Amino acid sequence: MGSMYMMLSIVIPTFNERENVRTIAERIHTALAGEPYEYEIWFIDDSRDDTPIILAELAKQQPQIHYFHRDHGTGLASAVVEGFARSQGEYLVVMDADLQHPPELLPTLVQRLRQHIDIVIPSRFVEGGSDGGLNGFRKLVSWTARVVGQLALRRLRQVSDCTGGYFGLRRSVIEHAKLDPIGWKILMEVLVKGEYQRVHELPYAFAARQAGESKMSLREQWNYLHHVFRLVVQSPEDRRFYLYCLVGGLGVVVNLIVMTAVMYGLHLHPVLASIIASVVAMIHNFLWNDRVTWKERTPSVRWRRMLQMPVFMAVSGVGIAVTALFVEVFLRLHWPELVGQLVGIVVSTVWTFIANNRWTWTERANQKKLRHKVRVTQE
Ligand code: GDD
Ligand code: MN
Repeated sequence: MGSMYMMLSIVIPTFNERENVRTIAERIHTALAGEPYEYEIWFIDDSRDDTPIILAELAKQQPQIHYFHRDHGTGLASAVVEGFARSQGEYLVVMDADLQHPPELLPTLVQRLRQHIDIVIPSRFVEGGSDGGLNGFRKLVSWTARVVGQLALRRLRQVSDCTGGYFGLRRSVIEHAKLDPIGWKILMEVLVKGEYQRVHELPYAFAARQAGESKMSLREQWNYLHHVFRLVVQSPEDRRFYLYCLVGGLGVVVNLIVMTAVMYGLHLHPVLASIIASVVAMIHNFLWNDRVTWKERTPSVRWRRMLQMPVFMAVSGVGIAVTALFVEVFLRLHWPELVGQLVGIVVSTVWTFIANNRWTWTERANQKKLRHKVRVTQE
């Protein structure tokens, strides 16, 4: 349990930053000198050089400074999680050691947190911000990473600088979250798993590195994709569509097996076998979607529950009709009908997903309220 008066904890991950740690500490002290609250700085260090020796000196000289050295560090983001656990402030700020993230922004950042903002994100990409600290190639990589992240993870979409390393938050945002990030992007982990309603973006200029060099590598870019993939798997709202496709694919296999069994085992007419197989596959799909894909959405009212299967069948019926329509259109245009079938399947998969999400497994009122609550504002 920390001091009740500790307001702000600044967490700084470091890896071979011997030329920078003194300067950043000084610049933070200067920036916060006039502020009416207490703060502490936590360096979480994985360095192989003599950074920890310098950190030990700093910590001895200045009571606000703390550090923790890891001999077998597991990357930038996990260092920040370590810093969250060791620090005590009600407000947390994460920033880099190399002065690419201007400490002069700290007072404004904390002020916004005190104005009931849950997460404050200094952004390179809102009006007034700039991205001067990266070269052209890194900018392209960074842009691609953001696009991939925002396509895959809904909660990143409204946030312009969702892959940055500079941000502030209330401790309550992560109090109940199980953070286990891979690689670098701790902000992405917090945005997907945290509990928050108000996000605020501040423009800032991402400066050039003060000294030393960037630790970004190809390996980190792979880690990023791995991290995005894992967050999709862990996030009910983001994995749903992929689960739905998986269930549908499994349904096709079930369909073919049942048809084979009925045709050759029971010697029924192929058309009858086809109908039986489709009905079995439909029930199969319904059960998996009910128990897995939309498992958080089971209605509490009994009559709503009874209605789900018929609604699902109606939606599937429309899906089949839409697919057939594509085949019809392709036939008229003298295009290959199998391609028409394929296009129809893709379109009806998307449509039936949206329809089932809306009508079959309707979001409960309290779930809806929680989801719509996130608001992003800008300076
Ligand atoms: N503890 C620890 N362990 N710290 C690390 C590690 C690690 O394995 N790798 C890097 N760091 C520290 C660095 O010492 C530095 O303080 C900070 O993390 C960022 O590393 P840089 O090497 O300077 O990264 P960058 O400048 O290329 O990119 C940074 O800024 C971008 C814009 O905000 C990162 O924060 C990116 O994630 C961010 O998008
Ligand atoms: Mn940097």
